[in-house]
Amino acid sequence: MDKLNIENQMEYLDKIYKLNNNKKLKYFILTMGCQLNENDSEKLCGMIEKMGYSKTDNLQESDLVVFNTCCVRENAEEKLFGKIGEVKLIKEKRGTIIAIGGCMMQEKHIVDKIKKSYKFIDIIFGTHTLHQFPKDMYESVVENKKIEDILDIDGEIIEGLPIVRNDNIKASVTIINGCNNFCSYCIVPYVRGRERSRDPKDIINEITDIAKNGYKEITLLGQNVNSYKGNGNLGIYTFADLLRQVNNIKGIERIRFISPHPKDFTMDVIEAIRDCEKVCKIIHLPVQSGSTNILNKMNRKYTKEQYLELVDKMKKNIPGVVFSTDIIVGFPGETEKDFEDTLDVVSKVHFEQVYMFIYSRRVGTPADIMDEQISEDVKHKRFNKLKSLAESHIEENNKKYLGTIQKILVEGKSRYNENILTGRTETNKIVNFEGENYLIGKIVSSKIISDHMWYFKGEVDDNGWVFANDAALFGYKKTI
Ligand code: 5AD
Ligand code: SF4
Repeated sequence: MDKLNIENQMEYLDKIYKLNNNKKLKYFILTMGCQLNENDSEKLCGMIEKMGYSKTDNLQESDLVVFNTCCVRENAEEKLFGKIGEVKLIKEKRGTIIAIGGCMMQEKHIVDKIKKSYKFIDIIFGTHTLHQFPKDMYESVVENKKIEDILDIDGEIIEGLPIVRNDNIKASVTIINGCNNFCSYCIVPYVRGRERSRDPKDIINEITDIAKNGYKEITLLGQNVNSYKGNGNLGIYTFADLLRQVNNIKGIERIRFISPHPKDFTMDVIEAIRDCEKVCKIIHLPVQSGSTNILNKMNRKYTKEQYLELVDKMKKNIPGVVFSTDIIVGFPGETEKDFEDTLDVVSKVHFEQVYMFIYSRRVGTPADIMDEQISEDVKHKRFNKLKSLAESHIEENNKKYLGTIQKILVEGKSRYNENILTGRTETNKIVNFEGENYLIGKIVSSKIISDHMWYFKGEVDDNGWVFANDAALFGYKKTI
């Protein structure tokens, strides 16, 4: 990004900090949507805290409220307008500044609605202008202007923004912005623009820094993460090159990535996953539908058979690999036979996790104007049927873990019980077990002693075996 522009933004941060100094101001942020949006919010928090605000979970005591919105499905819209109603009273009471940003603000009909019916909103900003939030705030606070900072053209890659991360063990790093695929149901290409890959040097530097700060797990993010294209810096041209380089970063012990597109799972990516011991052998592989007919209408660029062949190829090449997926039910024109094909793929692949969505019409997408929209009733019936099938597989699959020893990255204390630690297996299953605090942030080996639908109970043996640094194995006594 333009260095001058970022320096300029830093000056605005400073100016607002000086104005806010000693006022003990608080901010509240609500993030909707995917991990990319969460990552954008971490950057917003970084900027806001540099302006002298501290975070609160209490909307009522906030001096600045930020909603970072999503528009991938309709229910997010309902949620946003409910929240806007709630903050109106707070604004009237304390003069709170209200800012709304993110994907939904790239949709003209939504922005028009806000400007017409919710005139008290102070700042509206889009996905391409996140880095200009300091300037927007300055003009709102000092010049008392209503701000609409939205760009229709693709924004530059933003580097060097301050960041406050949500977690201190797991971190997300966006490697590619935007999407070129235009799946016919999806609004993302319209609100996030075309694919823009970050410079590999910036990514590697960011992850090296994260590792130095004690983080153990990295999730590489992108709307279409495996179509990443490096510019050759550090010898990184492809997503596979990037995985291999991240695998070499000392201190990082687990690497995940979301969301890939099946069409970009080339052999070099499969081989990199196989070779890199830190890359978790659970792959999120969104299928969306099991019917070739529907996949074609969705513009997914693969058939049912090609998807299943890809799963087989990955199973053959990556020992122990398992899968999770996204599925949409009730896409326009989906017949019972098409839906049966989806159930068939679920039965054949036996996913570890299925993220299920009811098709939601999005204004401006090709699927919104397709004939044969499916009734809500049929969509819900199919959703429930798919849910029972997927859950029966999860239950069955959970049994396979019983009695096995799993490597758990310990994330912290359980929210529900002070004396219990909680962590995740490589396959992202939650494991709760009794253990001492020094294990937090380490990879321990735990025996799975009981299973529940969404979590396991584990047991760490008396030696508290700990796996650490570069996957080298060493043990130390629990008493250390
Ligand atoms: N309706 C329902 N689900 C959708 N998704 C994307 N667009 C829509 C839509 N219009 C789902 C897809 C995607 C996930 C992030 O959200 O399954 O993979
Ligand atoms: Fe929602 Fe897509 Fe935006 Fe993520 S990128 S917040 S899923 S619209």
